[in-house]
Amino acid sequence: MNETVKNLTERKSCAAFKPEHISREEIDEIVAAGLNAPSGMNAQGALLIVVQDDEAVAELSELNAKAAREMLSKVNPAAAAGFPADPFYGAKDVIAVVAKKGATHIYDGSLVMGNLMNAAWSMGIDSRWIHRAKEVFESEKGKEILAKLGINDEVEGIGFCVLGHAAKEKPKTEIKPNRVFYL
Ligand SMILES: Cc1cc2nc3c(=O)[nH]c(=O)nc-3n(C[C@H](O)[C@H](O)[C@H](O)COP(=O)(O)O)c2cc1C
Repeated sequence: MNETVKNLTERKSCAAFKPEHISREEIDEIVAAGLNAPSGMNAQGALLIVVQDDEAVAELSELNAKAAREMLSKVNPAAAAGFPADPFYGAKDVIAVVAKKGATHIYDGSLVMGNLMNAAWSMGIDSRWIHRAKEVFESEKGKEILAKLGINDEVEGIGFCVLGHAAKEKPKTEIKPNRVFYL
């Protein structure tokens, strides 16, 4: 197995990060992998928002938790009340992916997310996809953040790639059998 396939098969998501930043140089390499993800009709409509400022990361985490509580409160109020304060698991660095709306923007943005997580893993950096970027960037605060960055196109939040170094080891996910068919 070559190194790339090994990295792809061994990646695992992190659920507890050390309270330390990764470097801007590391972020830039991870971002380069994200930017090079394929996109439908080469639209390249996914936009990457790098967040290394502690206050900004905390704000996004709070907005994410708020979105989760709002969604959960409709179906499971107890789960909403018990939702963790920091859905980013203590990560200090985040790349938010949003995508300009188009024919394939969710697929395109998801591939960017995959590239980010796999590139990070290949560099010895842990990550996790945190959801609800759609709801966060549809909120008033989320829209303000986009406007502040000069992102005026109609975009949809795809995901938050939270990054850092694992504070504790996570076992490799068990891969469900019987998911491959040969015709
Ligand atoms: C579309 C998507 C949304 C996810 N959302 C969350 C999330 O909101 N919170 C979280 O803790 N993990 C989230 N995850 C991470 C998954 O829980 C994780 O990938 C899964 O448990 C498999 O673990 P592995 O990545 O180590 O194989 C998400 C993953 C994907 C692909």
